[in-house]
This record gives sequence, structure tokens and C-alpha cells, in this order.
Amino acid sequence: MAELGDDIKHAKRLLDQNKLVAIPTETVYGLAANATNSAAVTQIFKTKKRPSFDPLIIHIHSFEQLSEYIINIPEKAKLLADRFWPGALTLLLQKKDIIPDIVTSGLDTVAIRIPNHPLTLELLKSISYPLAAPSANPFGYISPTTAIHVNDQLGNNIDYILDGGTCEVGIESTIIGFDNDHPTVHRLGGVSIEKIESIIGKVDVKALSSSNPVAPGMLQNHYSPKKKLIIGDIDELLQKHNNVGVISFQKDYKVQHQIQLSKTGNLDEAAQCLFGALRKLDNENISIIISEYVPNHGLGRAINDRLKRAAIEQ
Ligand code: TXA
Ligand code: MG
Repeated sequence: MAELGDDIKHAKRLLDQNKLVAIPTETVYGLAANATNSAAVTQIFKTKKRPSFDPLIIHIHSFEQLSEYIINIPEKAKLLADRFWPGALTLLLQKKDIIPDIVTSGLDTVAIRIPNHPLTLELLKSISYPLAAPSANPFGYISPTTAIHVNDQLGNNIDYILDGGTCEVGIESTIIGFDNDHPTVHRLGGVSIEKIESIIGKVDVKALSSSNPVAPGMLQNHYSPKKKLIIGDIDELLQKHNNVGVISFQKDYKVQHQIQLSKTGNLDEAAQCLFGALRKLDNENISIIISEYVPNHGLGRAINDRLKRAAIEQ
């Protein structure tokens, strides 16, 4: 098992030695290494069993740092960074050579964001390089939103988990790119489309169904529990299946293994609870998990995207 704690100096020491440290962010926990060191980044791929064609996000602490790693920043990207950083928004921008190809899987853009978590911001300020950090879960499984989640699955393979409590947003960052200056959302996430469009106007959203070579990590089945997940009308599904766990949006279905994502119908609260709920039911003595889509606006779109992917059979 890994050591858990909030010792930033210890985390820095390990990272300086090109070791991996799990870090808290407001979205999900990340598995971090020095993004400018290929050997360190290779360890991330190995530890997660992540295919090398799936590029990583790099994390910085200030907008001023961008120019060290990025060739040029489109106006709309700048407006979004001004409004949402630090926060759950990742920008795809033209990278400089200091970012090794392994980070971007050979692409000429790098995914970059300033995370909004006090411990990780302090850590980032204490080091002289950006941190490459994908979500700290084995490839394909549900992303971790607590230090315990990280420890449960990767604890044997990493030295230290910086414990920053439960992630406030609970789903990964929204990823947006700017091909020919036209904004395209490649992954729905912690900043809603409505909020993004209120700053830069209409954006394209790459839907789950379309194959998406620009973001190879957007594989269809992802965020998946080991148990089968079925999504639909929960009352109907309860008629058909036994020994189930239920994840509902609001309603109480009076079954033994059930999690209501938000009793008050708050989509932000539902997003925060979603991955923990999937993990919890995945570890219960039940046969299948049944769930339902939530209202498809605000963070509801990202929640529905994750549910849809989690339900796709491997
Ligand atoms: O909230 C988050 O974004 C978390 C925290 C730790 O920051 N990180 C995260 O990383 O979710 P990861 O590796 O689990 O997901 C990153 C996604 C992948 O699907 C990858 O394909 C996409 O970002 N990505 C990275 N670089 C890209 C690029 N240059 N072009 C297109 N997609 C890219
Ligand atoms: Mg991930």
C-alpha cells in the first residue's frame, strides 16, 4: 500500500527523483510525474496499463507559465483560461519541443490545465516543471475521487498519495481544442457547455457515437465498473432483474443497495457522487448495477456521457 499524507515537500522530493505521486485535483485524482522527463512519463503509462496512443494532460499553476510550453494561444482559448482557470477545463494547444512526444502520443498539441486544488497548486508552485497526470486509475476503470480509491487500485505501485480529501467536482475536466480557430469540445466534463458558450459562443461537441481520432483516449467503453451496468427506466429494470444495485438521480427506490446521486436534484452534487457510487456498488455483493440518465443539461451532459460509456460492454 502507498503512503497517504499531505506532505508537499515529500511529494516534491519523489517527483524530483522522477517517481510517481498521486495528486488531488478538483475533478479527480491524477497520477503525476515530471512531464518534461520521458522516463518518468513512461512509468505513468506502465502503472496505469495505459496504451501509448492515449495522450496525457499536463498541469501548471499559472497562466504565465503557458508560454514555456505552448507556441501560441488562440484568442478564444485565452478568454476561456481567463474565466475558468484554475478549474476543470483543459485546452488543447500547439506544444513546444520541451514537452516530449510520449506525453502527447506524437500529436503536435498538448492538453493543459491549471487544476483548482490548494495542495496541488502549492506543489506545482514548488517545482520547476509541469506535471503530466492522467486520472489515477487502471486504464478503463472508474476514475478516483478520494485518496482511498487511488490506494485501493494503484497503492502497490506508487510510493505516495497526496491526500486532498474528496474531489469537489467529481468528473474529469472538459477538453476543448481549436482546430482552425474553431472551438470543439472533445470531452464533456466539469465545466458545462452552457458556461463555455456564454464566454466564446457556439462550440462543436464531438459526440460519443462518432469515432474520434483526435482524442484516442475517448474510447467508447471507459469509466467502467467490473459489474454489468444497465441504464434505463429503473422501475422497469427492477421488474426484470434480481440482486441489483441501483444508482438513481433523485428518487428512493426502496431497494437494499441503492445510491441517490442527489436527493434535491442538483446536477453538480450528482456529478460529485457519481464515480464513488459506481465504485461502491461495484464492490457490493450484487449481480448488476442499474441506473438512469439524468437531465441532459449543465453537468448532466457529462454525467450521461460517463454513464453511457460505463455501460458499454467490454
Ligand atoms: O480532470 C482531468 O482532466 C483529470 C485530472 C487528473 O486533471 N485528468 C484526466 O486525464 O482525466 P486522463 O488521462 O484520464 O484523460 C485525458 C484525456 C484522454 O482521453 C486523452 O485522450 C485526451 O485527454 N488528450 C490528451 N491529450 C490530447 C491531445 N493532444 N489531443 C486530444 N486529446 C487529448
Ligand atoms: Mg482517465
